[in-house]
Amino acid sequence: MTATEMEPILDEEAIADLRRTDHAHLLHSQHYAPDHEQALIFDHGDGVWLTDVRGRRYIDGLSSLWNVAVGHGRVELADAASDQMRKVAFANGYNGFSNEPAIKLAAKVIDLCYDNMEALFFANSGGEANEGAFKIARFYWNLQGRHEKVKLIARPGAYHGSTLTTASMTGLPPFWKYFGPLVPNISHTERPGNPESNDEPNTDGETAEWLEEAILREGPDTVAAFIAEPVKGAGGVFTPSADYFPHIREICDKYEVLLIADEVITGFGRTGKWFALEHWGVQPDIVSIAKAITSAYIPMSAFIVSEPLADMMKNLPADAKFMHGYTNSAHPAAAAVGLRNLQIIEDENLVENAANMGQRLSDGLHAALDGHPHVANIRSLGLIAGLSLVQNAESNEPFAEPGTGAKVMAHMRDDGGVIPRIINDELLMAPPLVINEAEVDTMVDAAASAIKKVTES
Ligand SMILES: Cc1ncc(COP(=O)(O)O)c(C=O)c1O
Repeated sequence: MTATEMEPILDEEAIADLRRTDHAHLLHSQHYAPDHEQALIFDHGDGVWLTDVRGRRYIDGLSSLWNVAVGHGRVELADAASDQMRKVAFANGYNGFSNEPAIKLAAKVIDLCYDNMEALFFANSGGEANEGAFKIARFYWNLQGRHEKVKLIARPGAYHGSTLTTASMTGLPPFWKYFGPLVPNISHTERPGNPESNDEPNTDGETAEWLEEAILREGPDTVAAFIAEPVKGAGGVFTPSADYFPHIREICDKYEVLLIADEVITGFGRTGKWFALEHWGVQPDIVSIAKAITSAYIPMSAFIVSEPLADMMKNLPADAKFMHGYTNSAHPAAAAVGLRNLQIIEDENLVENAANMGQRLSDGLHAALDGHPHVANIRSLGLIAGLSLVQNAESNEPFAEPGTGAKVMAHMRDDGGVIPRIINDELLMAPPLVINEAEVDTMVDAAASAIKKVTES
């Protein structure tokens, strides 16, 4: 198998020139210059497919950054932005002003989200949404006179963003190195000293008891909120056990801690439900969303609050304005794209497709790789899947040398025509929700043959 090739769009000299200019002037997310020496430069996309400037086509196996839910090349979304931009460049959403697309999108998202959700605040990125979620949790407790409830607890392996506060929430040490000191009053759950547990562990070994111990360690009266992704994403795609979130909800209720669900990846259908905690019948207090709200055609995010917090916001005392906002909050063009995008997800039954194609992806990965000596911990929920590449699948011993994951990624891309994500030796897949059966099978074949090639050579 090779990545399907078409006519080159740019010649080799033009590509080399772009790479030189990139190196000279563009600082990338998670910048490390050698990563870009042979950068793949994309030109256009269509459905789950991306085409680079050499004319090679690849399946976008991570929906770019977990965000292109409705797939590439959606002219309807370009039209929605264009129509709205032709009407007005921008409309101020600060005190006393509003705009129609933002009002309608807020109502639509509240309608789709958990029954207890009531109001939302728009921002531009997942990090901004999470930071706002933390701020409104503190604001809530302060207004109740609970001034000491200021701390936030997060999880190891979590990713919540790259602002200084959300990097501090993030439970991945590489995001902290050289940026310290981190923001105080943010801590992470840890494996309890007494490992005895009645709970079924998550696929990365954590249980809800880790939270209870963290709350008791910090002091329940000092903890404002706990934040968790329903499925850990950038930390390596780790799925929760069936009792994890129900137990988390009980613990949060017991200690009066607000539960923030970071659904930046899982929101709007990725897991086969509109919002992921529906799988376990749990309702959070605050939900962060981004990515699939506009399928990344234009940046937009939000934090959504449940009735008690929404009531507070509707009845603030005169001295307690919520002094938080971004120039581009509730941007009309982004809201117009969001509305059209959610209509596509509904009209094309993409949440159901994510459940069905996710099952096919899971079945395919198990059929191809169960029992493979170097593959462990195949896990998924809807269209978000991960597996671990290990030295010994029986003992779960990792490879001593780094680089297996990167080699698998290179074979999948160059021979199989699929771009997954690799984090160390975790192979991650989360294709657009429009994916069909043949495309799922191509992903499975590409993964299985790349793993065999790399581990058997
Ligand atoms: C779960 C989660 N939360 C927050 C973020 C941060 O979003 P952004 O990069 O838009 O700030 C991400 C980004 O991948 C994410 O996966």
